[in-house]
Amino acid sequence: MYYSEDLVEEVRSRNDIVDVISGYVRLQKKGSSYFGLCPFHNEKSPSFSVSPSKQMYYCFGCGAGGNVFTFIMEYENYSFPEALKLLADRAGVALPEKEENEETKRQQNLRSRILEVNKMAAKYFYYQLRSENGAHAMKYLKDRKLSDETIHRFGLGYSNKYSDDLYKYLKSKGISDELLAQSGLMNVDEKRGMYDKFWNRVIFPIMDVNGRVIGFGGRVMGDGKPKYLNSPETKVFDKSRNLYGLNVARTARKRNILVCEGYMDVISMHQAGFTNAVASLGTALTSQHASLLRRYTEEVILTYDSDEAGVKAALRAIPLLKEAGVSAKVLSMKPYKDPDEFIKAEGAEAFQERIDGAQNSFLYEIDVLQKQYDMKDPQSKTLFYQETAKKLMTFESELERENYIEAVADRYGVGFDNLRKLVNRMALKGSTIKIPEKNHGARTEKEEGIRKSQKLLLTWLIEYPGLYQTVRSYVKKEDFTTDLYQTVAGLLFEQYEAGENNPAKIINHFTEPEEQNEAASLFHSTLSVENRGEMEKAIKETIVKILNHSIEERKNALDPMDMAGLQKVIADRKRLQEIQKMKITL
Ligand code: GTP
Ligand code: MN
Repeated sequence: MYYSEDLVEEVRSRNDIVDVISGYVRLQKKGSSYFGLCPFHNEKSPSFSVSPSKQMYYCFGCGAGGNVFTFIMEYENYSFPEALKLLADRAGVALPEKEENEETKRQQNLRSRILEVNKMAAKYFYYQLRSENGAHAMKYLKDRKLSDETIHRFGLGYSNKYSDDLYKYLKSKGISDELLAQSGLMNVDEKRGMYDKFWNRVIFPIMDVNGRVIGFGGRVMGDGKPKYLNSPETKVFDKSRNLYGLNVARTARKRNILVCEGYMDVISMHQAGFTNAVASLGTALTSQHASLLRRYTEEVILTYDSDEAGVKAALRAIPLLKEAGVSAKVLSMKPYKDPDEFIKAEGAEAFQERIDGAQNSFLYEIDVLQKQYDMKDPQSKTLFYQETAKKLMTFESELERENYIEAVADRYGVGFDNLRKLVNRMALKGSTIKIPEKNHGARTEKEEGIRKSQKLLLTWLIEYPGLYQTVRSYVKKEDFTTDLYQTVAGLLFEQYEAGENNPAKIINHFTEPEEQNEAASLFHSTLSVENRGEMEKAIKETIVKILNHSIEERKNALDPMDMAGLQKVIADRKRLQEIQKMKITL
């Protein structure tokens, strides 16, 4: 669905950012801005600022920033259309009827109807647990040391002994067989027709990040099989994209997220105060899970079972997390089976100690590897070192590589130099390692410098709009060679030409939260310039740098036969020389 820019801007301007964010974060006024604890990273003193005049927010701690749309997208994990819808509803702006085709409409309708049925079922299970029929289920949960509060908080329930109990209930509420079949709550077979999937089980409702019930897990009370029964995947339940407990864990304000295997583990950990625990839904961790986690944290601690399956699961998860940009640590539950049993036996403090001592995932991998080799046998030992060296080669940063070589050398009693030699020799044999190229490094440093100059000039122009009158005669938007900055420059110049000053509107043009953060950072730099003379000098230097780079870029991209282009480059160079001699005054 495409919404016009005017409409987007109307919705934005009718939702005051301070009002909206106040609904999520406690804000305090300080000077012309509001400050609070950043909801996007864990902090103790407020570095999250909201500016009423700019209608933007920015966190000086983690760099999150943007306008009111960005905030809702990041906080609620919404797409842009979802955020727009929420804010339009909030401000009473009517969105045009979606011109979606029948099929999409039907699918969306189906999704929301399944969610509705799930909610009804969850309520039904919830009341069953608290009824007489559910007394033994309640006892089961109590015997597993769950408190009333925990049972309530996770919305735990019970499915009756009768196999058509829920079916009858939902039918009485007017739900069609067709919808029931799509909900995953029923089994269908030829002989018996439709009947409840879950019976005589303790029920764990599974919620998505927004707290909507998307499926259920049910556990037998005792030794029956299967131990757990889970909803099948449905239109609303995608096991590879959801994590049990994430709706709570995402707001836990901890610096990492604990990932474990089971519902009971999550619940036990939350009850013990580790509200940052999540579990995959009876499946292995996927790359989609890893990306999902990356939205909320930079570090995951794997708290898998201490059996062989748990080790395998950890070894599979580590590279997926790494790829998604999440660093991983591994926590050992030994001598207990899983977090639930550990906490029951040793308590929360001991568990915290395990968290503090969680092992770096690389060293964990090496430890597991080592167990496959007989370290008393020289040949086997050599093979182990070779395998280890191969893994060490994969670190691209020299410093990081050296640090890991040192750690491994320490741990397994090899000389640091020997191990380093081995790694380097392997690298030279032309394996996968990327040897840092001198030129390569220098080029990116230069690029970084030019990016910085472009960013700086934009920041100045935003902070001191009056500067634009001076700068416009030297710099065009095309001189900003970084895509994002060029877009911002274009929009900003347009606004200034029209006598407008509306930074938050500029953010509307970016669709990705990362871009919105980056753009927002331009509007929130703290500049310190001593005095006017110094500022004039700094601005001139920055302009010269930007123009110089822009001209060089153009020259390099020039077709040798393009005479007009070449002449333009020569003229621009001349002009640049003049600018260099000029004094820019404010
Ligand atoms: P408790 O015995 O209740 O403490 O459970 P647990 O969390 O220790 O269970 P376990 O480690 O055996 O299983 C971890 C997760 O795997 C569970 O939360 C389920 O999601 C899933 N699972 C376990 N058993 C079954 C099963 O029999 N069938 C299916 N489909 N999933 C299962
Ligand atoms: Mn368990």
